[in-house]
Amino acid sequence: MKFTELPTPCFLLDENKLIQNLAVLRDVAQRSGAKILLAQKAFSMFSVYPLIAEYLDGTTASGLFEARLGKEHFGKETHVFSPAYTEQEFGELLQYADHIVFNSFSQWKAYGNYARIAGKSCGLRINPECSTQDPDHAMYDPCGPTSRLGVTLENFQPEMLNGIDGFHFHTLCEQNSDALVRTVAAFESKFGAYMEGMKWLNLGGGHHITRDDYDVEKLVSLIIYLRRKYNVEVYLEPGEAVVLGAGYLVGTVLEIVHNHAHIAILDTSAACHMPDVLEVPYRPPVFRSGQPNEKAFTYLLTGRTCLAGDIIGEYSFDNRLLVGDQVVFGDMALYTMVKTNTFNGMPLPNIAIRRVSGTDEVVRAFGYEDFKNRLS
Ligand SMILES: Cc1ncc(COP(=O)(O)O)c(C=O)c1O
Repeated sequence: MKFTELPTPCFLLDENKLIQNLAVLRDVAQRSGAKILLAQKAFSMFSVYPLIAEYLDGTTASGLFEARLGKEHFGKETHVFSPAYTEQEFGELLQYADHIVFNSFSQWKAYGNYARIAGKSCGLRINPECSTQDPDHAMYDPCGPTSRLGVTLENFQPEMLNGIDGFHFHTLCEQNSDALVRTVAAFESKFGAYMEGMKWLNLGGGHHITRDDYDVEKLVSLIIYLRRKYNVEVYLEPGEAVVLGAGYLVGTVLEIVHNHAHIAILDTSAACHMPDVLEVPYRPPVFRSGQPNEKAFTYLLTGRTCLAGDIIGEYSFDNRLLVGDQVVFGDMALYTMVKTNTFNGMPLPNIAIRRVSGTDEVVRAFGYEDFKNRLS
């Protein structure tokens, strides 16, 4: 039986699971008094922004385009942080963003006046220099040595804080609330003295709040502690947690070849449709599969680009894979649709929703023009 009757490759968002995640996040917001924003860098499927907006307080953006998308399709609060703004974009950005976070005092000096005159709430990204991540994931650690993200204590200029309403830090990646507790302690010991008079504190993303083992109570009490101690609004801006486990990427087996292994060539691709598999790297979950040799038939699942390394991973199945079978990758809503590319002229996967009612519906299909329009 096919997982979906829709044409593949296809991202399929599970509306039911999305709503479950949103309910958890809304509960955290209600009990802690925090405001929760969707980090669009992880998930920008704007057709479901009206649904997400019923639960969350707004969006956060990495620059002009995400800020515009958030303002136009989500509404509510629009926040933006970029390591460096450009003069060309800043004027337009003022049309969309409510909160603007600067990464350095020189950026604040260059653009702060424009933002203040336009009535924006301005903040500064801080680097508490507190690494809490697995050393294997150095690429995702904004507190690592030589990080360009956020002002370190050494570079902090308290005399420049006039007009700054809040601090922002983002240091976590797929972590639990114990890591946030440690980060807050480091933040307070280095920058707590400057919280006097601030209106808000943004704790960034990387909080895996909707994961089963996440300690929600610890998060709620930490937020309550911060709100009371500093009399500030507290923001969280998770991306992954909003859509954790809420999407699939469905591919179809196009061909099977043999070379020291059974190799299935799919109509999807690690390089084009799930680049994090190669970049992080990680092994995505595949429905009804096991580790290599755990089940009777083991295959290397691969993409159909020319890249020899376009390999998703080795998986075993109870039955032989046949041309035409669907292969379903799990947890494919986050950092996937936003990162696809058309290398090799690969078609982009359709974007679809599995409605609460169980029906699957394509909300966006792509074609040749989408490939061509990125080139000239
Ligand atoms: C500044 C900022 N906020 C929020 C996020 C969202 O993080 P996540 O999707 O891990 O929750 C990121 C991710 O890189 C980020 O850089």
